[in-house]
Amino acid sequence: MILKSIWKITFFCCIFYSGWAQIKLAVKPNEVSSDISPQMWGIFFEDINFAADGGLYAELIKNGSFQFPIALTGWRLNKPKPEDQWLVINQQKRSLTNTRVARIVKTTDSSAYTLTNEGFRGIGLLKNEKYNFSLWAKGVSGNLKLRIEVLKTTGARIAMAEFNTISGPWKKYELPLTATDSVYAGVLKISFIGKGSVEIDNVSLFPVNTFKNRPNGLRADLAGLLDSLKPGFVRFPGGCIVEGRDLQNRYQWKNTVGPVENRGMIVNRWNMEFARRAAPDYYQSFGLGFYEYFQLAEDLGAEPLPIINCGMACQFNSGEVAAMDELDPYIQDALDLIEFANGTIQTKWGKLRASMGHPAPFNLKMLGVGNEQWDAQYIERYLVFEKALKTKYPQIKLVAGSGPSASGPLFDYAWKQLKTSKADYMDEHYYLPPAWFFNNAKRYDRYDREGPKIFAGEFAAHDKEEAIPESRNSWLSALAEAAFMTGLERNADLVRMCSYAPLLAHIDAWQWRPDLIWFDNLKAVATPNYYVQKLFSNFKGTHIIPVTMQDSILAGQDSLFASSVLDKNQNQVIIKLVNMARSSKKIEIHIDGLPPDKFQARGITLNSRLSNDFNSLKNAKIQPLEKQYDILDSILAAEVAPSSFQVFVIQYGSPKISK
Ligand code: AHR
Repeated sequence: MILKSIWKITFFCCIFYSGWAQIKLAVKPNEVSSDISPQMWGIFFEDINFAADGGLYAELIKNGSFQFPIALTGWRLNKPKPEDQWLVINQQKRSLTNTRVARIVKTTDSSAYTLTNEGFRGIGLLKNEKYNFSLWAKGVSGNLKLRIEVLKTTGARIAMAEFNTISGPWKKYELPLTATDSVYAGVLKISFIGKGSVEIDNVSLFPVNTFKNRPNGLRADLAGLLDSLKPGFVRFPGGCIVEGRDLQNRYQWKNTVGPVENRGMIVNRWNMEFARRAAPDYYQSFGLGFYEYFQLAEDLGAEPLPIINCGMACQFNSGEVAAMDELDPYIQDALDLIEFANGTIQTKWGKLRASMGHPAPFNLKMLGVGNEQWDAQYIERYLVFEKALKTKYPQIKLVAGSGPSASGPLFDYAWKQLKTSKADYMDEHYYLPPAWFFNNAKRYDRYDREGPKIFAGEFAAHDKEEAIPESRNSWLSALAEAAFMTGLERNADLVRMCSYAPLLAHIDAWQWRPDLIWFDNLKAVATPNYYVQKLFSNFKGTHIIPVTMQDSILAGQDSLFASSVLDKNQNQVIIKLVNMARSSKKIEIHIDGLPPDKFQARGITLNSRLSNDFNSLKNAKIQPLEKQYDILDSILAAEVAPSSFQVFVIQYGSPKISK
């Protein structure tokens, strides 16, 4: 009995001791090893999971221009009188890209004739918010009045406006609407009243409140979350969306610019990719096009990073490639894109940019050639692009791809072939289980420093699948990413850009998870992974400094991972620390070279005791919490919570520039 008790005491003491032993870390602000790229932490935008139409792009009407192959997709036509007509007319005189218009013919005053749009999994309106309804229309004969209503599922009306007459040639009709109540999944109903005939096109319902109040703009809440990340770059438009399932359906930026009512549309390559998450109504309207992406990057204070198709369709799908002697149009698209972004208003494409509202250049500095391409067919195409682009625009930095995997024969082959090329960055992707991220925190410590720099262009820790959509953004996945990112930061001399992927997912219309931000028709939630990205990005610093435990890099010993940076603009020393253990740890951080004053440090903690915890749209429980620490004799002493990510910010002088 006594022996048993002694054993028990010893056992608990060991646990207690292993959790509570004082761990000493040394941070050396005077030993700066490299600068950190201002573009270190950015965002990867792809139109997947209804991220563009139905998501970031604030338009609320689906298929408002009747261009979907089935012209009434998203619409319900109520035309009880057989004599009345509904016709979809291909009219190429108005636009070669948006060719269809709808003709409505109503033969009597008394009959009902309505068109109802379901939006993107419903239309979400917020009480007291203002919206703009618009459509293009032409009066054909008679006198038809249009009543516009937004209805709840109960049929209750929450917004209404009327156009008393539609007459004369094509023009835009607009009216403001104010929602008298909120609705999550409402519908827009157009009633044609009277007798006569009209043609209509480009039906639109748009919130007045968009990000930075841009017309044809972005959902303010979603773009606001992107803004809070303070991203260094915006990569667009993807992802596999760049490639298309086949070359005909590849992303062509020229179809996405110019007046919004003339833009074409194509099928979204994610619509039927996964049978279990099929979305046959998923198309790209291009209302959010390359001009808007450049504008977004500028509004976020980030560098634009467009990725262009390199004459290859998705190798997971058709794998179709353009013939080597037929690459010119693809290359021309790339060259013209640089002119669109940077050319003077005297140039063809610079003039188009100016006509869209941005005479000043967008100052494009980087371009990706191909997305997740692999093997010899990529290398030979990439090199042709590289030659043409570097000849005409030597100052533009090029991003080349290393394929879909973080290692293996295709990855090694791409690196071997491109190491001595003029590529400035190699794009590496890792979608792997959390354990891989913990185990690879040292991935770049011994990487070859010769050759292109690293763009960690797509990564996310893929935890187990569970039923609730947001649940795959588990706390464990976020913690694993944080641990791995300490390694990215420690190697910021080599790793110059990083982005989590994908960025956005609609809760009712997703294809791929995990994702950084989940949203529905009315609101959005930041995942734990989002907060990890935000803390790294908001406290990215300007220079790497060492943080060590017993003179070694801290990457897994005692279940701890750390990196440290100096922010010379803010006069801050910043330490990022991950504790993957289920016990708390007492640490002492010894900071060399601080003046002998008493300092205060901010400590920001993100944690959960449950590895499968997550933030849902209903309950965002994992949030950063902040507290103050005293630093005495250059020592910051803290008790680090179990399973946590901490950022310590030590302000050793006044900030030099505002963030
Ligand atoms: O992020 C989702 C997809 O993952 C991207 O489109 C592609 O590049 C990668 O395979």
